Amino acid sequence: MSLKTKIDPNKLPKHVAVIMDGNGRWAKKQGLKRVLGHGKGTEAVRKTVESAAELGIEALTLFAFSTENWNRPKFEVDTLMSLLVSSLKKEISTLQKNNVRLQTIGNIEKLPRKAKEQLAEVIELTKNNTRLTLTLALNYGAREEIINATKIISKKIVNNDLKIEEIDENIINSHLYTFTLPVVDFLIRTSGEKRISNFLLWQIAYAELYFTDVLWPDFNKEDFYEAILNYQSRERRFGKISEQIENSNKEAEY
Ligand code: IPE
Ligand code: IPE
Ligand code: MG
Repeated sequence: MSLKTKIDPNKLPKHVAVIMDGNGRWAKKQGLKRVLGHGKGTEAVRKTVESAAELGIEALTLFAFSTENWNRPKFEVDTLMSLLVSSLKKEISTLQKNNVRLQTIGNIEKLPRKAKEQLAEVIELTKNNTRLTLTLALNYGAREEIINATKIISKKIVNNDLKIEEIDENIINSHLYTFTLPVVDFLIRTSGEKRISNFLLWQIAYAELYFTDVLWPDFNKEDFYEAILNYQSRERRFGKISEQIENSNKEAEY
């Protein structure tokens, strides 16, 4: 029986973020070239998007290319960029069928022209979809995002559009690339690495973290359900004590 049946639909994370890692190691294990792992990884993307949409999760953010990934061999970077274009084209029907809206975070200006054009096309085609917001983090780095936000906020102060005293969490939030998205409740990283690698540093301040040894190309729907079940077993205390959380849950039931 699928683990899906065990998931409580009333306790879903609103926003799930995923560091999709392990494509290269997956390929090596099969005796294949690294880049073939990325191609296989796109199947895991499709499965994860479908399961998130089917469950009723509002937002799914996938780390697809980091600001640091430009430092990989040129052939690998080029392959990743062409794979982005071809899989966007190929998956339009998956997005439409599942009522998924696509958007990006990160500085996409730096991407090759073809990738930008293909992204713009799919973003436009899916802009009225309402079930799930799929955000691809492309040329994304959390430090770059924070620097970018700091510059915009500083300009507003210099122009007298904002006072220093007005800077609070909401102001910072609203200047990050993720400003339209709900708070990140859950962060998944595949492949056994236990690090954040410059992903959503501000946004995961209170997210539940989940690390699995499964390599991204092997990650399937059941692996996703297992992760969600694990999330549902956690007690999120936000600095409070257990009894306070239990009491507020009881009140919510009445
Ligand atoms: C994740 O897989 C995909 C990207 C970072 C683009 P990797 O390519 O990092 O795979 P490993 O970590 O080398 O196995
Ligand atoms: C993080 O994975 C970036 C993406 C998943 C796109 P990496 O494989 O690049 O991370 P590090 O460098 O090993 O930490
Ligand atoms: Mg990696």
